[in-house]
Amino acid sequence: MKNVLVTGGAGFIGSNFINYILAEGSDYNIVNLDKLTYAGNLENLIPSETDKHYHFVKGDICNTELVNYLFVKFDISYVINFAAESHVDRSILGSEIFFRSNVLGTSVLLEAARKFDAQKFLQVSTDEVYGSLGKEGLFTEETQLHPNSPYSASKAAADLMALSFYHTYGLPVVITRCSNNYGPYQFPEKLIPLMIINLIRGEKLPVYGDGMNVRDWIYVLDHNQAVKAVFENGKVGEVYNIGANTEMHNIDIVKLLIKQIGKSDDFIEYVKDRPGHDRRYAIDSSKIKSELGWSPQYKFENAIKRTIDWYSKNKSWWERIISGEYQHYYKTQYNSY
Ligand code: NAD
Ligand code: TYD
Repeated sequence: MKNVLVTGGAGFIGSNFINYILAEGSDYNIVNLDKLTYAGNLENLIPSETDKHYHFVKGDICNTELVNYLFVKFDISYVINFAAESHVDRSILGSEIFFRSNVLGTSVLLEAARKFDAQKFLQVSTDEVYGSLGKEGLFTEETQLHPNSPYSASKAAADLMALSFYHTYGLPVVITRCSNNYGPYQFPEKLIPLMIINLIRGEKLPVYGDGMNVRDWIYVLDHNQAVKAVFENGKVGEVYNIGANTEMHNIDIVKLLIKQIGKSDDFIEYVKDRPGHDRRYAIDSSKIKSELGWSPQYKFENAIKRTIDWYSKNKSWWERIISGEYQHYYKTQYNSY
């Protein structure tokens, strides 16, 4: 069995990862370290909470003492770092917490991994570190880093810190840079869940600027299968881009959701653009395909239907977020560090 410290496992992608890995019966013991910020929700982990290979710890990745303690207590040899402040709009309102959790927190984990001779450290990163594309071209692993938001700047800093630990100390680091994810359990501040939930509630759909910004979408389970592939077989010191060749203008996504949910375009409300809004992201994932044999399994048309269906059937999940009740779920059962 591999003893794996998974951080940020109560968030969107981390919880999908843990539920997938444990359902699959992989040979991992998972210790999930999560601070339970506004984005952390233990209800996402109901499918895993009774699994004997799963253990939850409420705490901060910036807490060196706690992280060191967990390495010893659970005999940790592997780290997968999902924990981060992840929303661009929030980073524009205030960058400090982004620097703290995303950069300092990653450094604390890297130091502990070095101290306890970890066998692999996977840093979950984003295509946003590459900045914005014009009409043509794709991000490759060789594209120069050019982050434009406080969020992406903090993620780029964390990537460079992780790579420096590989070059300086030989720590077996791998980095994944994925495009925009969608699927179950995504916090309803991000485009797709926000629009689905607003449509179900009969509320306006705020589209930033002219709605012509392009994002490259991937279903969260495709991302997580790629994370697993890189974790198990990725070459240390390397970066792997992850994407599913699904570029779409924001306005087309919004119109598609309107159509699928059976509402009218009148709900669209063009609002003031996000400052410094990146125009286009698009990922070249040929490296992970050719080196690790990964490829996306979910077609956008089917996976988006599945996603709409999930939010329609799991109203209580997002209603408890809107009311704030989700933050009381089991929280009192855990000590805070
Ligand atoms: P999320 O915001 O849904 O979840 C983040 C989780 O990290 C939450 O559970 C939160 O409580 C936890 N966390 C935050 N700060 C912490 C700290 N200091 N200590 C411990 N836990 C802390 O984010 P997500 O969308 O699931 O993204 C996960 C990772 O994937 C992030 O690193 C993000 O940069 C990266 N990523 C996200 C996307 C995307 O489309 N969402 C795409 C590419 C990469
Ligand atoms: P988001 O889901 O915040 O992801 P990111 O900014 O990390 O790509 O936003 C996706 C795109 O949708 C982005 O171009 C901003 C846009 N957007 C809106 O137009 N309206 C909204 O309410 C939100 C949250 C995003």
